[in-house]
Amino acid sequence: MSSLKNSGLRIHELQVEYKNGQLALGGINLTLPEHGIHTVIGPSGSGKSTMLRAIAGLLPAYEGELLFNGRPVHEKDTLIGLVPQNYGLLPWKTVRDNIRIAMRIARSGRGQPSRQEQDAQIMHWLTSMGIAELAGRFPLSLSGGQQQRVAIARAFAIQPTILLLDEPFSALDAITREGLQQIFIDNWQTHPATTLFVTHDVEEAILLGQKIIVMPSGPQDHPEILDNSAVFAMKHGDKRESNEYFAQSKTIRKVMMEKW
Ligand SMILES: Nc1ncnc2c1ncn2[C@@H]1O[C@H](COP(=O)(O)OP(=O)(O)OP(=O)(O)O)[C@@H](O)[C@H]1O
Ligand SMILES: [Mg+2]
Repeated sequence: MSSLKNSGLRIHELQVEYKNGQLALGGINLTLPEHGIHTVIGPSGSGKSTMLRAIAGLLPAYEGELLFNGRPVHEKDTLIGLVPQNYGLLPWKTVRDNIRIAMRIARSGRGQPSRQEQDAQIMHWLTSMGIAELAGRFPLSLSGGQQQRVAIARAFAIQPTILLLDEPFSALDAITREGLQQIFIDNWQTHPATTLFVTHDVEEAILLGQKIIVMPSGPQDHPEILDNSAVFAMKHGDKRESNEYFAQSKTIRKVMMEKW
């Protein structure tokens, strides 16, 4: 049993069929070690968001097993943070209150910090995202990239055990994106959540993942899992210019040509 205890997130034969009969995932098997980061790339419609939604507990039904350290992921108090592809912010609440509500729900039953302490934490995360001045604004008055950063701040603020990010940097310009990739890695080093990071950007998948999961174009096919530990071990700022990065980039493109 002890091996199960630290076995991380295990996705076993995960199959999802939406109510309209659309088969979105056809029996996926993946294991993500506790405190690991895997990036996920795949063609549009290959079931990436569906997989995250299933793990986050947002689907009414799925087949297969989702375990964290040997126990069903939705059974006990495994805290899961999701940055959804559409940001998932409450439009009638300010930025600050969007984060406050998530923190409250995450800590329910465990005692709440004082309001001042909560405010300080909220401002800490907003500042790290470069959007402290937006705390009192409402989501619909923000740009896509700003909303996206609020959603990331909210996910970080609850310090989840499992962190699921669905193309979290897709609406950002290249420079802001690079800054946030660094912040994301720094944050993961301090609070190493078990992380699945979906991106459509091959470069980002190589820069952030210990392994890269390449989803197939059809649900009958299996994902390809590439080891990326050589790049991952490097200092973040050195990765982009390294031979390992270029080699990995070539490998992924080859897999994409074959599978998509
Ligand atoms: N709520 C839904 N009802 C019915 N079918 C759905 C629903 N959500 C997704 N699908 C279908 O399931 C399949 C997988 O969709 P999903 O959103 O998981 O793909 P994705 O890999 O995240 O794509 P993208 O890269 O475009 O975000 C698609 O064929 C999609 O049309
Ligand atoms: Mg998606």
